Amino acid sequence: MVATNAPSLTALRQASNARVDATLNALFDERAVVPRLDNAMRHGLLVGGKRLRPLLVYLAGQALGARNKDLDAPAAAIELIHAYSLIHDDLPAMDDDDLRRGQPTVHIAYDEATAILAGDALQTLAFDVLARTAHPRLGSLITTLATASGREGMVAGQALDLAAIGGHPDVDALAYMHAHKTGALIVAAVRMGGLIAVDESDPRLNALTRYARAIGLAFQIHDDVLDVTGDTVTLGKTSGADAARAKPTYPSLLGLEGAQQKARTLIDEAIAALAPLGEQAAPLAELAHYMIERDH
Ligand code: IPE
Ligand code: IPE
Ligand code: MG
Ligand code: MG
Ligand code: MG
Repeated sequence: MVATNAPSLTALRQASNARVDATLNALFDERAVVPRLDNAMRHGLLVGGKRLRPLLVYLAGQALGARNKDLDAPAAAIELIHAYSLIHDDLPAMDDDDLRRGQPTVHIAYDEATAILAGDALQTLAFDVLARTAHPRLGSLITTLATASGREGMVAGQALDLAAIGGHPDVDALAYMHAHKTGALIVAAVRMGGLIAVDESDPRLNALTRYARAIGLAFQIHDDVLDVTGDTVTLGKTSGADAARAKPTYPSLLGLEGAQQKARTLIDEAIAALAPLGEQAAPLAELAHYMIERDH
């Protein structure tokens, strides 16, 4: 094995989390118009969370030679959208969960209306953060995030998820739902990182997209697996929630072993897709493994 001085994934993750947390914290420096609303937003955004989507922005960008300071805005923006999606996902009208990231969910810690509004304001803040940058491909960055978040992306997936309760979709329908509700933001994270460095015609962006689609599906399959195998304290969210709500999942369709096998196959596909990026993509390959090895 060749000796390398490349930083470990753990070190890259610590650096990424420190950068994105600094960017996110600074958003709340100015006086709050409604302190209770800001506090609810901060609760949903800043307490806990693995920050995997910002890490994907940084690693994808770094793999193509982007500078960290140009990656800060898209990294913060994707986490803002993700945090909003979780606050709304937990609402009584959706998954009705009272624990998130080891804390009471926002509608429990505050109230339902405040949780809805906190999500709304986090979503618009994401585009505010992005729009303040002066990147030559700003239009593409905004479109990438908007499309992945809304009626063609995460929100569409959430609608499919709710419509599927108690139903028996086949594996293709489940993959389609997961690609929207979870995959879309993961693809957007990776593409925004890439777009900071190269334009849309660069074939490496397609390679990154194939990678992201595969890890995105694997990530949600593993989330569904952890819902069965994990415990509430480790997960920071209530285990067994999917079965309790009759959610169709990969484990419910293929069994635990079948679901885990599918996730492993996807990670192999993701790593194969990185070939055109060479050694620069080694951290992305390592992160792919982590996606399905994590315990929460
Ligand atoms: C949870 O995402 C929601 C899914 C899309 C499965 P994460 O597991 O990334 O949640 P946090 O941000 O670490 O809390
Ligand atoms: C979440 O899927 C997808 C989102 C868009 C937030 P889940 O409903 O499975 O996520 P958890 O398990 O509540 O984190
Ligand atoms: Mg859900
Ligand atoms: Mg949920
Ligand atoms: Mg889940």
